[in-house]
Parts: sequence; structure tokens; C-alpha cells
Amino acid sequence: MRPQPWIFITVTVLAFLFPTFLTEKSDKIIKLPGQPKISFQQYAGYITTDEKQHRALFYYLVEAETEPASKPLVLWLNGGPGCSSIGAGAFCEHGPFKPSGDLLLINEHSWNKEANMLYLESPAGVGFSYSANKSFYTSVNDDITARDNLAFLEKWFTKFPEYRNRDFFITGESYGGHYVPQLAQLIIESNMKFNLKGIAIGNPLLEFNTDFNSRAAFFWSHGLISDSTYEIFTSVCNYSQIRRQIQNGSLNPVCSQVNSQVSREVSRFINSYDVTLDVCLSTVFAQSKMLNKLQDTVEIDVCVEDETAKYLNRKDVLEAFHAQLVGVTEWTVCSGVVQYEMQNLEVPTIHILGSLAKSGIRVLVYSGDQDAVIPLIGTRILVNGLAKELGLKTSVPYRVWLERRQVAGWTQVYGDILSFATIRGASHEAPFSQPKRSLVLFNAFLAGKPLPEA
Ligand SMILES: *[C@@H]1O[C@H](CO)[C@@H](O)[C@H](O)[C@H]1NC(C)=O
Ligand SMILES: *[C@@H]1O[C@H](CO)[C@@H](O)[C@H](O)[C@H]1NC(C)=O
Ligand SMILES: *[C@@H]1O[C@H](CO)[C@@H](O)[C@H](O)[C@H]1NC(C)=O
Repeated sequence: MRPQPWIFITVTVLAFLFPTFLTEKSDKIIKLPGQPKISFQQYAGYITTDEKQHRALFYYLVEAETEPASKPLVLWLNGGPGCSSIGAGAFCEHGPFKPSGDLLLINEHSWNKEANMLYLESPAGVGFSYSANKSFYTSVNDDITARDNLAFLEKWFTKFPEYRNRDFFITGESYGGHYVPQLAQLIIESNMKFNLKGIAIGNPLLEFNTDFNSRAAFFWSHGLISDSTYEIFTSVCNYSQIRRQIQNGSLNPVCSQVNSQVSREVSRFINSYDVTLDVCLSTVFAQSKMLNKLQDTVEIDVCVEDETAKYLNRKDVLEAFHAQLVGVTEWTVCSGVVQYEMQNLEVPTIHILGSLAKSGIRVLVYSGDQDAVIPLIGTRILVNGLAKELGLKTSVPYRVWLERRQVAGWTQVYGDILSFATIRGASHEAPFSQPKRSLVLFNAFLAGKPLPEA
């Protein structure tokens, strides 16, 4: 049957009147393979951040389950550096589905119950995002990542103008402790507020020494190392020295000996991202492995298969997602091509949280309390210290917060703008291991309310 001319005319007129009509349509996901019936819309596709170098970032937008027009927009960034927000954040933590075999199962605690969720694979070289010019990958750093993320947002809001004035939040975890505040700061500096209301970061890397050295106390207090090992681990060679030395090439003999002793006592059978979990659960942990890989232990792969990686490498899934593999042979949760400037790990971001709070941006820092990779101990010291420095008075004293009449963690709020919270029983990827509690926390954060006491 020949298409009728009026179809062309209608489409042309619509495209002229609403420039987003064509593009938006083309990014709309009709149905993901194995997906159950749903009531919300999903979009996925590329935004070019550098026309000349053909660099493009891949996003996945999951609209809110109900009343998307009245719910905020939340950007989520996983860390690594170099790990995928779609593979980890969306499919293993708080997205609408969890892959299982050929199917996608509904996640009852999906964050799209509260918000329109925008998952971004960043920087280029992560997941489906790419740079056609491969020399881009040889030296990627925090500056480049933040600038590309901003370029992404500018164009994305043009494509989805209905979100431009929406309440906007930036969230993430782990190395997202760099990505999230750095992007928020750049947005403010470049005078493109996009109605940014707040940021939330989970088990974030905020300050190299404090974060990594708190591991000793965490290991010791959880019984993973002996008193004498704790003593040498803090006085003879501490963890930040060990990390720095390995990052630079090699451990000196003294630190090498301390490191071996710690590794022997902790054993290879402990997952540092959750010291109470006893099995490897999924690729979600690749991100913490990046931050943890200098621990000098062999990762035993007790995960028989990796559901997410299998799913995201299916040809029909790529098609449904409008994704391509550019310059790589497969999708991996953490990039094998990006060479991130590891010296950037030492750049402190805690003070950026301070300047954001001063500009009226709500800041929530939360910690899964079973994580030894970036333990709550260091994070709590950093947030507490920041509050003092800013002269913020405690507006909610350190107290428990509840989820269904059980203690879900502890919280403290400073000056109604800076909040700290732990999630009890949660891993480095809190929403993965404590989905209900994480959703309660997310809800309170968006509403700007203290965590529930009853
Ligand atoms: C590729 O990128 C590198 C470094 O970013 C740049 O020097 C080079 O000119 C680029 N190549 C092309 C063909 O544009
Ligand atoms: C770790 O060791 C370095 C070098 O000796 C030292 O400067 C730093 O204060 C130590 N940090 C902690 C928390 O012990
Ligand atoms: C590691 O190398 C960087 C420069 O590449 C240097 O600034 C730093 O001091 C070195 N650290 C150690 C512990 O050797």
C-alpha cells in the first residue's frame, strides 16, 4: 500500500510546530524484550556531546509510574570511574526491571514510583556511550566528564523541553561522589540552573585519605582483622598509602607486608562491598571492584552468569534500546576502553558539597552501613566536619529512622540543607541490598523532609 500524502504533510507540520516530535518518537522504546506490561513510557538513545569528534552519550529515561508530569526529574550516575548507570543503577539497583533469564521482572521498589529517572552512561566509552575518535579514551578525567555531562543535559533538555522547568535532582554513588557534585557545580557556574534542587550521593568518594583510611577501623570493628593487624595497618602503613603506591606502580616492602597480612586475615571470601553478604550477586559490584581492586585479592567469581550483561548484549535488546556497539565488541558494566586519570581520585569533593549547600542546593550523603569499600565511618566524619566548617547547626539530631517499624538506619541533618543517613544492612550499592529502605530514603530526599521516625 502506498503511504498517503497527508501522512507526510501531517508529520512535516507536526515536526515544524514541535521540533521534538520526530526525535522523541524515535527515542521512544516500544517494548523491551521480555518486558511485562507497564503503564509508563521509556525512552533511550544518544545525545551527541561533540559533533566534530563524534562523541555521544547514551541515556535511558524511565518515566514515573504515575503522573509523570507532576513528578521531578532525577539524573543517576554510577561511579567506577568507568561503570554504567544502566547496567548497575537501572538493572541491578533501582530501575523498573531486573533481568532474569529471558525475562525482565518487575522491581517493586523502583525509583520511578517517585520520579522520572534518567540514567546516563558517562563518560564516553562507558556502556553504549562512545567516541568515534579513540584517542579520547587515552586520558579521561573529572573535568572532561563534567563538561560532557553538562553538554549532554543542555541538548537533552532541548529534546525533552517538558522537563526543562521540572524540579531536577542529581544522584549517584561511589565515584559518583566526584561526578555528581562536580556536575552540579558546573551547572551553577555556567548559570544553567535547570531548576536544580538537590543532590544525593551514596557511599561516595569525597576525600581520599579519610575515605580509604576508615577501612581499617571498619575491618577491625567488624572482626575481619586482629587487634595487632589493626595496629600496624594504622601506624606502619595505612590504606591510603597502600592505594597510592599501587596506583603509582608498586608497593614498598613495608606496605606490601602489611597489605598481605590484612588480605590474609580478611580472606578472599569476603566481599568488601558488603561484609555480611556471602555470595557474589551480580555485576552491580564491578563498580566497587574498580575502587577496591587494589586490595590485592583474587576475585572469585561465584556468580555463574551475569544476567544484566547477557541481557544488554542481546541483539533484540540493543535494537529496542536504539543502542549500538561502537568500537567495542560487547557491552560491559565497567569500561574496558576508558583510561581514567586515576590521580583524580585524590581530588577532594567534600568542599563542593559545601558550596552547593551555600547556594541553597539540598545535599544528602548516605551510606550503606555494611560497605567496607567506602565505609560510613569516613563519610560521617567528612559530613560532620563540613557542617562545622559551614557553621550549620544540627536541625535533626543523630537518631534512628524507620521503615515499617524497624530501624532502617541513622540520620543527622544540619541547617535543614545538609543531611547524612545510613541505611542499615545495606551494601556499597544500597538500593541493591536494601531496596525498601532505599526507596523510603529517596522519597524523603525528594520531598525535602527528614527521614520518618514512625
Ligand atoms: C582525535 O582526538 C585527539 C585528542 O583528543 C586529537 O588530537 C585528534 O586531532 C583527533 N583526531 C581527529 C581525526 O579529529
Ligand atoms: C596515613 O599515612 C600517611 C603517611 O605516613 C600519614 O600522613 C597519614 O596521616 C596517615 N593517615 C592516617 C589516617 O593514619
Ligand atoms: C604518585 O605519582 C604522582 C605523580 O604521578 C605523584 O604526584 C605522587 O606523589 C606519587 N605518590 C607516591 C606515593 O609515590
